[in-house]
Amino acid sequence: MSEVISQKYSSSAPSNQSFIDAIGPIWKTKFPEDWGISAGGSAYFDVDDRVQWAEDTGHCNFEGSKILELGPFEGYNTYQLAQKNPEKLVALEGNNINFLKTLVVKEMLNINAEIQHGDFLSYLNTTEDKFDIVWASGVLYHQTEPLQFLDALSKVTDKIFFWTHAWGEIVMSNPEQYPHFDPMSDEVREFDGRNIKHYYRSYLFKSDIPKQFSGGSSPFAMWLKKEEIYKVLEDRGFKIIKKSESDSHAAGPTISFLAYR
Ligand SMILES: C[S@@+](CC[C@H](N)C(=O)[O-])C[C@H]1O[C@@H](n2cnc3c(N)ncnc32)[C@H](O)[C@@H]1O
Repeated sequence: MSEVISQKYSSSAPSNQSFIDAIGPIWKTKFPEDWGISAGGSAYFDVDDRVQWAEDTGHCNFEGSKILELGPFEGYNTYQLAQKNPEKLVALEGNNINFLKTLVVKEMLNINAEIQHGDFLSYLNTTEDKFDIVWASGVLYHQTEPLQFLDALSKVTDKIFFWTHAWGEIVMSNPEQYPHFDPMSDEVREFDGRNIKHYYRSYLFKSDIPKQFSGGSSPFAMWLKKEEIYKVLEDRGFKIIKKSESDSHAAGPTISFLAYR
């Protein structure tokens, strides 16, 4: 941590920028132009349409709901979800820097949310909390136990939004474009009485965790085929409304959908 955040004093009056600068120049998010903040280069706050899409399905009424957000990273979906006036919004983040970034964003924007620091499965496997909606965007493909993760989610909620990568043949057809995959380390694991293939994807760290990291807690993750993801959820009674499926993402195929029952 000392490598990323070193002690320093602000020389300016308090401002949005001084909040952001407290973390250092390691932001990925580009905040909306009229907020007057210099941070990263990727726009989400005013561009990300996933929260609105989920609401527009008619199956995801955020207002007055209890929401669990997994992996807020830099708090942009936290901000969007809070704007829908939920009864309760809990955002759980396992990476210490991303936890602090989300806390800064919460305080800077006066977001009504509980920001928690901890690991998804450790929490899901022990909690008695239940949620109306779980926001699971950008997290499934960072897990080493994705099936346990899906099963644990199905015990705390009846509604889950997912955006995730899924393994697809395109990954094998072009190994130079997808060097993170290592077929020798793939595993077949038994789950629900079936043998389900898990595809090994390394983060390819040279040494330390990179700055701006938004991946999982292990040096690798296990990816699933999209058909397996849908099936495991459907076997637990969920119906699927698809937002998108794409092979064109540079990091591998993506799917985005709402699962509800
Ligand atoms: C790719 S980002 C997703 C950001 C945002 N939700 C989105 O969809 O754009 C994944 C986030 O989940 C966190 N994360 C991944 N695995 C986790 C785990 N097992 N427990 C807690 N946090 C985790 C990462 O630190 C990161 O902030």
